[in-house]
Amino acid sequence: MAPTFELVTGAPDADLFVVPVFSGARLGPGARLVDEAIGGTLAEFMRETDFDGSRGEVLAVPTGGRLGARAALLLGVGDEETFDAAALRRAGAVLARRASSVAAVATTLVDAAGPEIDRGAAAQAFAEGVCLGSYQFLRYKSAASASRLERVFVIGRAGAKVRAGLARGARIAEAVAWARDLINEPAAAKSPAEVADLAKAVARASGLKAKVFAGDQLGRERMGGVLGVGKGSDRPPRFLRLEYAPPHPRGTLALVGKGVVFDSGGLSLKTAGGMETMKTDMSGAAAVIAAMSTLRELAVKARVIGYVPLVENMPSGAAMRPGDVLTMRNGKTVEVLNTDAEGRLILADALSLASEEGADAIIDLATLTGAVTTALGDKIAGLMGTNDGWVAQVRAAAERSGERVWHLPLPEEYRRNLDSDIADLRNISSGGGAGTLTAGLFLKEFAGSAPWAHLDIAGTARSSLEDGETSKGGTGFGVRLLVELASTFRKPSR
Ligand code: BES
Ligand code: MN
Ligand code: ZN
Repeated sequence: MAPTFELVTGAPDADLFVVPVFSGARLGPGARLVDEAIGGTLAEFMRETDFDGSRGEVLAVPTGGRLGARAALLLGVGDEETFDAAALRRAGAVLARRASSVAAVATTLVDAAGPEIDRGAAAQAFAEGVCLGSYQFLRYKSAASASRLERVFVIGRAGAKVRAGLARGARIAEAVAWARDLINEPAAAKSPAEVADLAKAVARASGLKAKVFAGDQLGRERMGGVLGVGKGSDRPPRFLRLEYAPPHPRGTLALVGKGVVFDSGGLSLKTAGGMETMKTDMSGAAAVIAAMSTLRELAVKARVIGYVPLVENMPSGAAMRPGDVLTMRNGKTVEVLNTDAEGRLILADALSLASEEGADAIIDLATLTGAVTTALGDKIAGLMGTNDGWVAQVRAAAERSGERVWHLPLPEEYRRNLDSDIADLRNISSGGGAGTLTAGLFLKEFAGSAPWAHLDIAGTARSSLEDGETSKGGTGFGVRLLVELASTFRKPSR
């Protein structure tokens, strides 16, 4: 269970008292209490141990029972000038990992944010960091060592903004953890039908309308991409539609998430190594479902509709073949030359439906191309889009949520690389590199006239190591960004 937060003004009454120290051994709020407890020798102690307050550095200080807390921990948080919400989120995560063997921690960290940082945003980021830093996926470990951290006392100036920020951060982190759990779950345990059922249960619990297309309905709905990709698997596809409809909505936002529960590549089979992590190819879907689960609780004003195609990409006698032609929902035909470029095929149907239903803006999240990792690594997602105002909104939401994106172009000059000899489009570029951009150009053909943005999260959706709020395995990338985007949504002008 994720720890809970309490705002207190009194003394640090907990197992551990965590105090921030800035670069240059500059003491943050609360450090004076520790100094007093050890008779004014803190400066000397830091010098002796070469503790400088650099980001991530920690130093345990024995307090001999002269402090409310049993022990004190100095936490280096880096430069005071750059100590912002992102630094606070990271510090919260470091705290959670360091304090995983105790039940209660008290800290002055939130008060260490400068006056220019909004107190609510600071508290939210801190809570996100603590909860995400204590995340573990232990379902399949027989000897599990779960974190013992239960309560975090935030010592500082009392305020409704801080209290609300802590609650908001904890709720958003809970959604991220839900997404991580689903992403980390082995593909055997998450067929398209099972994911759809799970999403229905989430929808019921969080006030969303849910509709699932299956079997013949998919044909009646002309979901040619979903049916084509899903054909090779014994576990048939689903198409999930979630809707959050507040009373007097401020515009309609469409969220689209790639839900490939396992991507073997299909007949264009991946290598053994290339398949190892492909249970995570539904990270976009997980992000959309998880983000939507928070909307009612966070009193979001916009109407939000989630479109989530769910398939398994497998080779078999029934699988689609290279050279086959699919007709997508919007009527465009696609020659499938590589069955491993399947994400864009299922997204084509979802984007078509979103645009048809009249969304004021659309954003899709997809683990779409290995190429985006070559360009931007595993910490920055590729952002593409058709409307400057909408792209600016996505960038601003990314900035505030601490999930990084980088704006890439959709060059018309490359569109000809998607020309097919026999159909409207081919599903892989005929050459010229820029695999991330041509994938984006492919999707653009299905987004209609609505402002549309695309996030290629193939790099950011999983991580091979723990780092700050990022966990090993599925990261849940996009949940925070989507919640922020929905919370601040303004209809972009066309
Ligand atoms: N799911 C993969 C993309 C991916 C690769 C995600 C590595 C995470 C890590 C996607 O379906 C895919 O296979 N893309 C191909 C496209 C190619 C065939 C044009 C790729 O990137 O190699
Ligand atoms: Mn693929
Ligand atoms: Zn894929």
